[in-house]
Amino acid sequence: MTTSSPANQHINLGPAESFPVGRVRIVMAGPREIGVVRRADGRVDAVRNWCPHKGAPICKGPLTGTMLPGEPGTLTWGRDGEILRCPWHGFEFEIATGARSYSDSRMHLRVYPARIENGEIWVDLSPRRA
Ligand code: FES
Repeated sequence: MTTSSPANQHINLGPAESFPVGRVRIVMAGPREIGVVRRADGRVDAVRNWCPHKGAPICKGPLTGTMLPGEPGTLTWGRDGEILRCPWHGFEFEIATGARSYSDSRMHLRVYPARIENGEIWVDLSPRRA
């Protein structure tokens, strides 16, 4: 169950401990399906469960790392737990910012401000300000 404040679109998603650390949990936040990741350091990432490429439920893809840019002929893996990979075509997005990793693409995952307050996770679904 979610509760919200009528004065804004801040929605209570429930107890933080019901969200596993470092894993995506898909929940309804008002009318929207979102993926929420609670971090060990207390941060919370929240993204819309909709891929901007072709509309896949992106939060069903793996939360993973990616290959890092490097010298020709070298392969370096990094950023574990920071990259959400779409299950349909494999596009990768930074879950904290919604940006495509290592791409100048304007395609962007919708992210929402989220926080833990008094042991509960809150997400802000307010429209983005320009
Ligand atoms: S629908 Fe997500 S990469 Fe194509």
